[in-house]
Amino acid sequence: MITAQAADKSLDIQGKDFLTLADFSKNTILGLVQKARKMKNASLLGKDSKSLNGKILGMIFEKPSTRTRVSFEAGMIQLGGSALYLNSNDLQIGRGETVADTAKVLSQYVDAIMIRTFSHGMVEELALHADIPVINGLTDLYHPCQALADLLTIYEVKGRLEGLKLVYAGDGNNVAHSLMIAAAKVGMNLTIAAPPGYEPQEKVLALAKQFGKETGAEIEVVNSAIEAAAGADILYTDVWTSMGQEQENAERLEIFKSYQVNAQLAAAAKQDYTFLHCLPAHRGEEVAADIIDGSHSAVFQQAGNRLHAQKALLSELL
Ligand code: CP
Ligand code: NVA
Repeated sequence: MITAQAADKSLDIQGKDFLTLADFSKNTILGLVQKARKMKNASLLGKDSKSLNGKILGMIFEKPSTRTRVSFEAGMIQLGGSALYLNSNDLQIGRGETVADTAKVLSQYVDAIMIRTFSHGMVEELALHADIPVINGLTDLYHPCQALADLLTIYEVKGRLEGLKLVYAGDGNNVAHSLMIAAAKVGMNLTIAAPPGYEPQEKVLALAKQFGKETGAEIEVVNSAIEAAAGADILYTDVWTSMGQEQENAERLEIFKSYQVNAQLAAAAKQDYTFLHCLPAHRGEEVAADIIDGSHSAVFQQAGNRLHAQKALLSELL
């Protein structure tokens, strides 16, 4: 249950890095969701607070982005601050300057760094050497900002998080990993259905199961999408080929074809199931067009919530 008090008190995460939800308590995560709801309401009434007046977010991108880039930049501006888009190819880091040196220098120019890259270890190293908060805007391992917006969306649509059954069909990737941690932390049951060899990493599963023990969330990984979907409150999927895996695309199309979220899979879910996808989506691959564009889909509300969840996060970290 998300209490009203949770939204008003400081979450005590000022100055912290946001690399994975595993580093945050259930109360902090629920507090961020609640704060995001309040800030969303205020924003829709044209009453954004200017709490980040004069603050600057540096945003390093080593992979493409639509939602993450634009929602972080727009969010900073709405709260009175600003953001710098830094393509890693245009930075000296792209020609061999060390991560540590980059961290120490940027710490003197900006108030926080958001980074999207391949290696999660590189982001940990950046955070270790930076004196300012570092936010993970997606690595090959985790996508915590997405999971935060997903929790906000599920709460809005279902009115609760605890005890729901979330089913993710597809690749055991960064988005799946962050969902596992998020669900386990808040007490939501999650079944990941992935083909053999494409399941989530064992270490992430072990971590999620450990968090799940504290909240009663059951986190499991199976190979059959249709069996997993039975009684689902939420069906979730992501691309079969993530950024950086493009050379595996043809092979993956073949391996994942029985994991498509389509009418057959949806028929196994609850009648009032909700469909989510972090986007970008490939209609006809991981999701059928009639599902993502159908009446159960909340994918654009979910994409919109990236803005609100991150504004709550930024205002707490800064
Ligand atoms: N979902 C998400 O992170 O989208 P972008 O790749 O467009 O940022
Ligand atoms: N798993 C996808 C998510 C994109 C937002 C990727 O890493 O490309």
